[in-house]
Amino acid sequence: MAIKVAFLSQKGGVTKTTKARLFARAFAFNKWRVKICDFDLQQRTASEWGAKRLAAGIRPEIEVQAFAAIEQALEQDSHYDLLIFDGRGFADKLTLDIARVSDAIFLPSGLAVDDLAPTVRLAHELRKAGISTAKIAVVFGRTGSSEVEIAEARDYVAQAGYKVLERTLPEKQGYRAAHDAGKAADEARAPTLRIGAKHLAEEMAAHVTALTEKA
Ligand SMILES: Nc1ncnc2c1ncn2[C@@H]1O[C@H](COP(=O)(O)OP(=O)(O)OP(=O)(O)O)[C@@H](O)[C@H]1O
Ligand SMILES: [Mg+2]
Repeated sequence: MAIKVAFLSQKGGVTKTTKARLFARAFAFNKWRVKICDFDLQQRTASEWGAKRLAAGIRPEIEVQAFAAIEQALEQDSHYDLLIFDGRGFADKLTLDIARVSDAIFLPSGLAVDDLAPTVRLAHELRKAGISTAKIAVVFGRTGSSEVEIAEARDYVAQAGYKVLERTLPEKQGYRAAHDAGKAADEARAPTLRIGAKHLAEEMAAHVTALTEKA
């Protein structure tokens, strides 16, 4: 049975697909059988990125497939070690369906209250739907250089009762360029960017490992 990890949000553009790609690449690199399940049938960002990666011959190959419903994605279960669910830029019943079957749920978010409020709202909705708070971790992306801003955002989420990862992915042109070339954040050209992304992937992996070992 595959480990299932979701990247969800109530708001668009908060770096779900970025984190999903990074997580997928980190495990595929370690020879896990990984599939990204792209639930965003409108944009298909992950699917298009996967095709670009394949065309460019970048290794490891990362399989991406589009799905309209969780049931079809779950049919992949026995063929993979890790299924990564890349959600859409809004929350609805599908978001809950995905969350219910996931071992771990990442809620990517920006630092502004404009981003934090919907993130916390979604976390509350998931909790109300019976999903364990322990599964949820907020992960900040496109952060600036202000440690104070990051600390305040972390405090906002912690006050609401949810875990926040220590590592963030700062806003860098190099990460965008990597995505444009079919690469993940930990394959960016600059070593410092690669290392930063790798550390974040490791922290995400530790969150998932702690949950799945417990289970
Ligand atoms: N750390 C970063 N630095 C610079 N650009 C970034 C960073 N992280 C993500 N991006 C870029 O920001 C944009 C939005 O990121 P992404 O597609 O991952 O968000 P999303 O939450 O999946 O969006 P959607 O809700 O539309 O699916 C993309 O163009 C991506 O390449
Ligand atoms: Mg996306």
